[in-house]
Amino acid sequence: MGFVLGIDVSTTATKAILIDRDGAVRGTGSVDLRVSMPQPLWSEQDPADWWSAAGLAIGEALASADASGADIEAVGLTGQMHGAVLLDAGSAVLRPAILWNDQRTAAECDEIRSLIGRERLIAITGNDAITGLTAPKLLWVRHHEPEVWSRLAHVLLPKDYLRFRLTGGFATDKADGSGTLLFDLASRGWSPDLLSELGLEPDWFPVTFEGPEVTGSLTRDASEETGLRAGTPVVAGGGDQSANAIGVGVVSEGSVALSLGTSGVIFAATETPIHEPDGRVHAFCHAVPGRWHLMSVMLSAAGSLRWFRDALAPGEDFGELASSAADVEAATDGLFFLPYLSGERSPYPDPLARGAFVGLTLRHDRRHLVRAVLEGVAFGLRDGLDLMVGAGVPRPHQIRASGGGLASPVWRQVQADILDAELATTSTAEGAAYGAAILAAVGRSWFRDVPEATAALVRTTPVAEPGAAVPAYAEAHAAFRELYPALAPSFHRR
Ligand code: XUL
Repeated sequence: MGFVLGIDVSTTATKAILIDRDGAVRGTGSVDLRVSMPQPLWSEQDPADWWSAAGLAIGEALASADASGADIEAVGLTGQMHGAVLLDAGSAVLRPAILWNDQRTAAECDEIRSLIGRERLIAITGNDAITGLTAPKLLWVRHHEPEVWSRLAHVLLPKDYLRFRLTGGFATDKADGSGTLLFDLASRGWSPDLLSELGLEPDWFPVTFEGPEVTGSLTRDASEETGLRAGTPVVAGGGDQSANAIGVGVVSEGSVALSLGTSGVIFAATETPIHEPDGRVHAFCHAVPGRWHLMSVMLSAAGSLRWFRDALAPGEDFGELASSAADVEAATDGLFFLPYLSGERSPYPDPLARGAFVGLTLRHDRRHLVRAVLEGVAFGLRDGLDLMVGAGVPRPHQIRASGGGLASPVWRQVQADILDAELATTSTAEGAAYGAAILAAVGRSWFRDVPEATAALVRTTPVAEPGAAVPAYAEAHAAFRELYPALAPSFHRR
């Protein structure tokens, strides 16, 4: 007896994780998911697959903990943000869900900016219109699939479809809601002005809750399908980025997280709804009640090193590849790498941005190129951090870091030097599902609130301190910042 369950509907898998009162992970399950790309720029999944994967992942997690459904005291949900799940009045799915990484909505982003006004849109939501967010997807369906549009009765985010199957209710959390571009950031609710000006019906959208609040309880049908107990409370949870931040204890102003996976994210918790005036970093509600966060998203972070390995060093171990750059001088001779291999989100919301090596000379060899990749990713992350500091986030002395890129001591040092902050790993690096489980634990009153829970459960270990290279990197970063504006015209000439 005495576990809580976190479930993460990510893009690549549905994961389930069981934690006990000490925060120890006692069981895990994971079932892979496929993304379908029926047309260029499209990215979709069938919500029915999330539900069947969740059933299997929950079963695996219970079995690996030698537990039964009766041992689970509460469930917390997290998942990929910004999707559009469309249901009819009978709650049937109308079309495949359109995902966060779908790029079909450039025209609808322009339409939203012209209907609302870009500055006003950023002032209300904290964000500019970018292709990945939910609102432009809805407009796209209105334009291209009138048959679907005429039957639309409910709009959900991906993890909230799972909630609907578990509890029979329509609800979401403030963090995921604020990622739709239809939220009033300051008042933490749907913006009546935006809904009406974009022609969207308010009753299509679910009730919103703070992360640890209970939104409903497990139905009998869901109990039969998942093995969990009917009546088990399900808390709101949070979008994957805020749940991940809770999992590493980034819940209060002054705390900052770095996630260095395929994409790279800098996440700063804030006490007030501040935003970057140009919308170059995201401003969303946190899944911590009454708190917000700023966030920069780099699309190809460790993905840049993977590209380099696959293109120029096939089969080589990542650690060895990164270590080969250890003896190369920092910011070597004006050689730079721009990491915009799949376009970019922050600080340049530009699907046409491209990667580049700039400043090559005859004396550069592969080690210099590797070093430039490690540095270019860190410079791009520093761009995001600087925008957040400019918007009012205190410059961090320590950054809580997670993700595969952290395995390399060379890259850790480069990050600490370029971000000019200590990097620390945490005892709890299981990702968003862990944060969702913490929200369930708070919802079940194991802790008074989220900060008390993370103070009790998350321990940090410093892994890199800013060193002698800081001044050289500060100078090189100034040169790096000039490159995207100079190259953008050539990226856009097609
Ligand atoms: C956050 C974001 C991704 C998706 C998919 O803004 O786009 O984290 O939620 O994981």
